[in-house]
Amino acid sequence: MKTKVKNICCIGAGYVGGPTMAVIAQKNPDIKVTVVDINAERIAAWNHNDLDQLPIYEPGLDDVVLEARNRNLFFSTDVDAAIDAADMIFISVNTPTKTYGKGKGMAADLKYIELCARQIAKVAKTDKIVVEKSTLPVRTAQTIKSILQNTGNGVKFQILSNPEFLAEGTAVQDLMAPDRVLIGGEQTELGMKAIAALVDVYSSWVPIENILTTNLWSSELSKLTANAFLAQRVSSINALSELCEVTGADVDEVANAIGKDSRIGPKFLKSSVGFGGSCFQKDILNLVYIAKSYGLNEVADYWEQVIIMNDYQKHRFAAKIIQTLYNTISGKKIAFLGWAFKKDTNDTRESAAIYVADQLIEEQANIVVYDPKVTAQQMQSDLNYLNTRSETENETFLTTIVDPYETCKDAHAIAVLTEWDEFKAYDWQRIYEAMQKPAFVFDGRGVLDHEQLRTIGFQVYAIGK
Ligand code: NAD
Ligand code: UGA
Repeated sequence: MKTKVKNICCIGAGYVGGPTMAVIAQKNPDIKVTVVDINAERIAAWNHNDLDQLPIYEPGLDDVVLEARNRNLFFSTDVDAAIDAADMIFISVNTPTKTYGKGKGMAADLKYIELCARQIAKVAKTDKIVVEKSTLPVRTAQTIKSILQNTGNGVKFQILSNPEFLAEGTAVQDLMAPDRVLIGGEQTELGMKAIAALVDVYSSWVPIENILTTNLWSSELSKLTANAFLAQRVSSINALSELCEVTGADVDEVANAIGKDSRIGPKFLKSSVGFGGSCFQKDILNLVYIAKSYGLNEVADYWEQVIIMNDYQKHRFAAKIIQTLYNTISGKKIAFLGWAFKKDTNDTRESAAIYVADQLIEEQANIVVYDPKVTAQQMQSDLNYLNTRSETENETFLTTIVDPYETCKDAHAIAVLTEWDEFKAYDWQRIYEAMQKPAFVFDGRGVLDHEQLRTIGFQVYAIGK
């Protein structure tokens, strides 16, 4: 087993594989990094000359790609060739919630992971270190190992767990200066050698004291735990937001007051219309499923409440809009500012906007959306995925306009669903004048200047106020 890695392959060129490998390649010019994917369109976009066409939007990513691409960073659809040439293979494929069979709606679907393991087993002719980059249920390394060890061709594999903690919208920043890098491996001589090889890759830019090494199971479980803790903070502050509304407390003042306690800390206490993103819900559901499968029902119930609270918060926001607009929104135009699950990303997976729109469309509202980075096609596909009504109906009730002022023109209400910075800088007087009266604003992200809006004449509802 080599300890100095020369050739890396990453299977999966998505939100994690793409940026992570771009940074690894930029920081290790002597390592050849090939990112492969079965999605040819995605690979073509990664190879596009126009960096605005990269498949994902992340501030700062274009510069990193520009520096490393075609120097020691390559994007390809030739999965077998990249596996064959690599001495270290990252698996960074999607691990969505299962939509069928046992564990449907809860467990992580590991079919893509297993396919990768089988492909590696089939193709590999030399010893490899296989790194789990995807977020996986604790003990998945056991499954991968069992597939890889039964090929009978004498090739030796070491499995490492190296979960990714980047957040979308700040991915490059998070990768450049991670709070920690976590590497789990077998506590054997060969396992330790493999861990050392991966530590070596990261130590090109991450201070060694920020690289934690553990056993495999601690590493796998820490990833699910970190997401569960983060999401639990959002659900906790969201639970209090409703209490603030009925008591006259202000959720931002409460968050600030408790966050000053160094034991609590100020981050992840921003009340909102509910957390979205591809991972919080999926990872907590997975944690709940794992706990249940070990018979730990109280543990499962505890974490499930984080999801229940989040669903309630999205539902509550939509219900507030309906109730405030005199319980009839049929035929009314409601302008959405934002569709992405957070600012500075074009990712919409599990975005609260989708669920709020769906609930309002059930009441036959006309939703018109503006988002600086999300395409109309993506919005339709998000809505269609819920399967609440026909695609034609969704196209009728949800439309997209690329200009925010046109989006808000003649609207009965504006709902802010994403905290894009540009929303704060709009000419709100101009928006007010072009709207139906009374003109309502529902700030689901707590980003606008509510006093200024009220002075202009808006009726403002803000979460937790
Ligand atoms: P993604 O859907 O953006 O990308 C996954 C890619 O894998 C897709 O392009 C898909 O075509 C490809 N793929 C699937 N099976 C393949 C196969 N057999 N061969 C080749 N390519 C294949 O997903 P993502 O957001 O990058 O997430 C990947 C993993 O990382 C997930 O487990 C997720 O939980 C975890 N994660 C995500 C984030 C995030 O912010 N998105 C952060 C940390 C961890
Ligand atoms: C999250 C974690 O922060 C990452 O560490 C992790 O790697 C990643 O999940 C993952 O495993 O996928 P991400 O989902 O990209 O990252 O974005 P976050 O910044 O965590 O935001 C998640 C959601 O919570 C967003 O909808 C955001 O608006 C919401 N949020 C966040 C709040 O409503 N309030 C807050 O105070 C913070």
